[in-house]
Amino acid sequence: MLVSAKEMLNKAKNGKYAVGQFNINNLEWTKAILLTAQENNSPVILGVSEGAGKYMGGYHAVVGMVNGLLKDLNITVPVALHLDHGSYEGAFKVIEAGFSSVMFDGSHYPIDENIEKTKEIIKLANEKGLSMEAEVGSIGGEEDGVIGAGEVADPAECKRIAELGVTMLAAGIGNIHGKYPANWKGLDFDTLAKVDEVTGDVPLVLHGGTGIPADMIKKAISLGVAKINVNTECQLSFAEATRKYIEAGKDLQGKGFDPRKLLAPGFEAIKATVKEKMELFGSINQA
Ligand code: 13P
Repeated sequence: MLVSAKEMLNKAKNGKYAVGQFNINNLEWTKAILLTAQENNSPVILGVSEGAGKYMGGYHAVVGMVNGLLKDLNITVPVALHLDHGSYEGAFKVIEAGFSSVMFDGSHYPIDENIEKTKEIIKLANEKGLSMEAEVGSIGGEEDGVIGAGEVADPAECKRIAELGVTMLAAGIGNIHGKYPANWKGLDFDTLAKVDEVTGDVPLVLHGGTGIPADMIKKAISLGVAKINVNTECQLSFAEATRKYIEAGKDLQGKGFDPRKLLAPGFEAIKATVKEKMELFGSINQA
């Protein structure tokens, strides 16, 4: 059964580790992430962007697939199904469809409008027992065609949003989606420390987990980050393994073209990446 991310994230913040949010794109992704979480006794959050939700056929299809896998694969570790960077309308849609967690990304609105809209989503999420993530200071890079400027959040604004009763808060600290450019300045730990100080117990979320060096991840966790989002890195692992299989001509040997064979190396590659991240984040055996 899907659970809200609240308990797992509060536990993570207290225990100084982070729970990974791994974005899903299809059945292979979902199965790989769920099995890896179960094998490593780790809580996990499945992230679904609005674009990925549409790609998979719609939010009801996603909920049906995930719930079916939880049952058929006997997944007993805590799993939350979370809308990633949801729009105001998208948040209502996933709540209706049966997600257990929702992000409303109002970071591109003026702060007062972000607060008003966040409040409404919190109210609905609370009524249904779901967790809710808000964002202050947009994350840079491109995701689903949305390009964020990569702002650094204002701690005073973070405090205002945290006080509304959000379950977790994403604050921009120089992190971006996708690969980091060679001249990236790194995470802004001074801002992170200030945000953590003024937001108290609220678990903080680090977006753009792909390519952040291990020492920066560890430092971010020590400063209150309890949820780390990873998307691109699984895509890169999957693509590389699939490319190797095809370049080696394996799809042309016997029944190598069978999707169950063709997609197997990519599936295993996602599992390896997810395990590596769970080790780094410290969530193994925390289920
Ligand atoms: P990456 O694609 O950089 O791993 O970022 C994922 C993310 O933050 C999803 O919200």
